[in-house]
Amino acid sequence: MATILGIETTCDETAAAIVVDGVRVVRDIVASQAAIHEQYRGVVPEIASRAHIQSILPVLTEALQAGDLQSVDAIAVAHRPGLIGSLLIGVTAAKTLAWALGKPLIGIDHVHAHLYSVILETGVAPTFPAIGLVCSGGHTAMYLVRDWLDVTLVGSTIDDAVGEAYDKVAAILGLGYPGGPIIDKLALGGDPAAIRFPRTLLDRESLDFSFSGLKTAVLYHVRGVPRRGQNVKDRPPLALSDAELANVAASFQAACIDVLRKKLARAAERFGARSIIVGGGVSANRGLREALAGFNLPVHFPKLAYCTDNAAMSAGLAQVYFERGQFSELDLDAITFSTFRN
Ligand code: KG4
Ligand code: ZN
Repeated sequence: MATILGIETTCDETAAAIVVDGVRVVRDIVASQAAIHEQYRGVVPEIASRAHIQSILPVLTEALQAGDLQSVDAIAVAHRPGLIGSLLIGVTAAKTLAWALGKPLIGIDHVHAHLYSVILETGVAPTFPAIGLVCSGGHTAMYLVRDWLDVTLVGSTIDDAVGEAYDKVAAILGLGYPGGPIIDKLALGGDPAAIRFPRTLLDRESLDFSFSGLKTAVLYHVRGVPRRGQNVKDRPPLALSDAELANVAASFQAACIDVLRKKLARAAERFGARSIIVGGGVSANRGLREALAGFNLPVHFPKLAYCTDNAAMSAGLAQVYFERGQFSELDLDAITFSTFRN
């Protein structure tokens, strides 16, 4: 039985968690910076790193009760991929604790941890090989998962991540940040067939994604198609009624979900997958969960608390490394790109 402290600072959440045996989440503290970045409608990297500096000790203090530090068996930290200034705060905190306490350090790939998040608190492991989809604000990629530590990238976005498209469409519609939960809620009251937005599947064999065309289609729908030499962003938005706004949200969401579902089906068939894993912020999406309920394979979603960024998923995945005796050195680097690349 191992108890692992996890630390997460890859983007705009400062988080710490204690997880026992890779699945039981004993403590899970997340300090979100969403309110800070909302005014810019996106994450400002320099502001994010400064906010991590302010939050890291309070978050760790909240996560750790007396005696906890002595009883943890290892310190895990998401050290890639992410914003370099943000990553450095978590990595430095984790190394300092590991060194001062003489405990092993385990560097975790944040995207990899999003895949693992599906078994937190449920303990229900997917049957391998699985196709894993990580869909968040920073990533939209599919992986062939033969085992928790045998993960291969099979497709990824060539432009925007799907969560980024949600955030940008929310900005186009004059809604708040992050856009995903707001659009998901608005879509409930709209007609998904009201507007036929494009579904970009790329070529017939492709497992890659593209969401920037969809985002532009929403922009043109809302502000009109620009004439030559005209910048559409300079045009005032058309006044949309509440019902029209809900229809745009529902139709945009339907296009995203269609693409994700079709690509998952394509990958599952190609690799003979026996289950599907969906993680990352967009895996909280109500419409996506409903659409995949009818999939012909078991689909594993994280509990809602573990969809968006958290430290429990890193502490959980670290258990697998711990059991196999795979530890990191104290010179562990913060790295902006993922371990799993083409
Ligand atoms: O995993 P996450 O916290 O951060 C990254 O690693 O990027 O994901 C955040 C993203 C944001 O783009 C947010 O708009 C999106 O997840 N998101 C959603 C929902 N909840 C969060 N997108 C669609 N539907 C949701 N319910
Ligand atoms: Zn994430």
